[in-house]
Amino acid sequence: MKRVSLATFLVLITTLILVVPRSLPAPPRDGGSYKSELRSIQAEQKGKGLDSCSACHSTNGAIYKFTEVNQWEGEGGGRHKLSYATLESDWSKGIAERLGGGSATSRQDCLSCHSYDYNLAHDLDDSDTAELEAATRKQMKLGAQGVSCEACHGRASKWERNHLSEDWASADEAKWLKSGMVDNRNLVNLAERCNACHVGDDEKVLTHTLYGAGHPDISSFELASYLNFVPKHWKSLPNEEADGHWSSARIWAVGQVASLRDNARRVGEWAKNWSEGGKPEFSLFECYSCHQNLMPKSPSWKSGREQLSEAGEPIWNASNWAMVKHLVTELSKGEMMSWTNSVKEVMSAVSVRRPDPQRAASAAMALEGMTNRLLDQISPYGKTASVDMGRLAPALLKGIAKDARYQMSVGPRAAEQAYRSMMVLYSWGWAKASPPGNHRALDKAINELGEIVLKFSGEGNQYDPLQQAMQESLNREDWKLNDEVFWGGKFAEKMQEIAGLLDAAS
Ligand code: HEC
Ligand code: HEC
Ligand code: HEC
Ligand code: HEC
Ligand code: HEC
Repeated sequence: MKRVSLATFLVLITTLILVVPRSLPAPPRDGGSYKSELRSIQAEQKGKGLDSCSACHSTNGAIYKFTEVNQWEGEGGGRHKLSYATLESDWSKGIAERLGGGSATSRQDCLSCHSYDYNLAHDLDDSDTAELEAATRKQMKLGAQGVSCEACHGRASKWERNHLSEDWASADEAKWLKSGMVDNRNLVNLAERCNACHVGDDEKVLTHTLYGAGHPDISSFELASYLNFVPKHWKSLPNEEADGHWSSARIWAVGQVASLRDNARRVGEWAKNWSEGGKPEFSLFECYSCHQNLMPKSPSWKSGREQLSEAGEPIWNASNWAMVKHLVTELSKGEMMSWTNSVKEVMSAVSVRRPDPQRAASAAMALEGMTNRLLDQISPYGKTASVDMGRLAPALLKGIAKDARYQMSVGPRAAEQAYRSMMVLYSWGWAKASPPGNHRALDKAINELGEIVLKFSGEGNQYDPLQQAMQESLNREDWKLNDEVFWGGKFAEKMQEIAGLLDAAS
């Protein structure tokens, strides 16, 4: 980084550079309050936009020449910078048309995830017309930057100045929060931030209607592997150095538990807004639990599977639970029964035929409480975690590999999570820390698992709107394939092979 000669900034820089260590005091933490508090603080603030950050966080910067903006814009920057442009594509035009016309770029239900900020409508809520127009133009310009800095770090009108103070970098979550800056140094906040768009929440929702209009399925988010595609513009995350090769295992664990929680929160949200006669939002469920029923299948498709929902009822998307249960086994086996009951309770309360929003609300809340406690254990704020992910990972891997039947009962999403979990825990952790003698065989088997899983989950399909969105996997030929590879046992066979190799490896 180059420094400017301005005396004021010189003092500033020197002090800032000296504050390197990131040991954080632990503030009190109670579950969902972080998000709601952040939201209400954010509501009073405006976005500043990329140009403003560029003054310091770009190599063209006038004041500092940090590189974050270049990384975000650059080739390895991923799709976030394109997320607004996506709304201008033919694909999005098609979606918007099927939703009743207009352009995707003016729809709040698209902008909420595809633009830089939480809620553009908020910024436009201004009674003065002249001001409103100016504000509209400005905010639309900012929105067009897509998922940029403030989407992850928070609206900056208040903290942009504050974060230049000497003690900022070493201040705790609570102080950042007061200014509306998201503390992503805390893995739990980080997961919550990504999940807002990649799982959805009360403000950002991918309804079944949007899917029906041709939106690709987002329900297979996995934090560690997705984070790997965000340019690493930070020094390190909590526990990263202590965890070494296993750091992605901790991110994986936090991601799984947080996604389970955020899926439960979506249930709570549905329950809160329920009105007499209403059905649960279809996107809360494992898509295939309905869509397979529309297709021919071999008579044996149910054999060996656990019946998780009442016959004829779709299954709540519990793909993350299918992973989290192994964390519970390793960390607090005694509580397994209450976890299982809690998940079952959510599953049966979110019923299409007999929706029970009251029960669903309390079941979701109970599950949320349990997930928050587990998150504190895996990634306590501001402290080195006592849970050694490296020590746990081999057992987690074996547990997951031996649990294919359960994953199949939950559905293809769970199988996809299982595959991604293998990647993260084995290939990025174990194999890097100390590859076992049979590494080549294991590596090969996990890659083959990926081929099986991604074939039925449809990843990599260049969907054409609607025609191909679900059709790709709904068309009969494909479903014969799904039948064969998934329900027909290829997935389970491969998992069994991997389990054997893992046993032999240690
Ligand atoms: C006037 C210069 C300046 C501007 C403008 C600026 N930053 Fe910073 N930012 C800094 C400096 C200096 C640091 C401290 C760097 C360090 O500690 O290594 C920093 C640190 C950060 C951090 C790390 C948090 C921390 O304090 O440890 C984030 C995140 C960040 N900036 C985001 C942004 C975003 C997003 C914008 C635009 C809305 C922005 N900054 C605008 C100068 C600036
Ligand atoms: C404000 C909403 C928002 C937030 C917050 C967000 N994302 Fe995204 N993300 C998107 C959208 C929208 C896309 C799709 C962009 C496109 O293709 O148009 C996307 C795409 C991605 C992709 C590319 C996926 C692919 O199939 O190529 C990755 C990886 C990703 N996000 C990771 C993350 C991670 C990790 C976080 C948290 C650190 C995060 N995102 C936070 C909205 C968000
Ligand atoms: C809950 C957040 C959310 C909402 C709301 C949302 N999207 Fe997306 N969208 C995403 C994410 C996340 C992805 C990336 C999926 C992935 O690869 O994991 C995406 C991907 C897409 C893609 C595929 C991009 C590509 O080239 O792969 C299109 C097109 C799209 N969205 C259009 C829209 C439109 C149009 C709307 C409004 C009707 C909308 N989205 C609403 C989150 C959202
Ligand atoms: C997809 C989410 C996401 C986006 C978009 C994003 N960041 Fe970050 N940023 C993170 C995460 C995660 C961290 C690591 C946690 C931390 O240090 O706060 C981070 C860390 C940082 C840091 C601290 C680096 C360090 O370790 O000292 C700075 C500075 C920063 N971001 C600036 C920016 C700027 C500027 C932009 C826009 C060009 C941006 N970020 C866009 C997620 C994001
Ligand atoms: C409770 C049952 C149910 C669930 C769960 C469900 N769907 Fe649907 N879906 C339907 C029905 C019924 C239709 C309308 C019949 C049809 O067109 O196939 C439909 C239609 C669609 C269509 C339009 C297909 C077409 O050819 O017109 C898409 C795309 C779609 N769903 C995607 C999804 C996705 C993605 C998920 C999971 C996030 C999902 N569905 C979950 C019942 C469900």
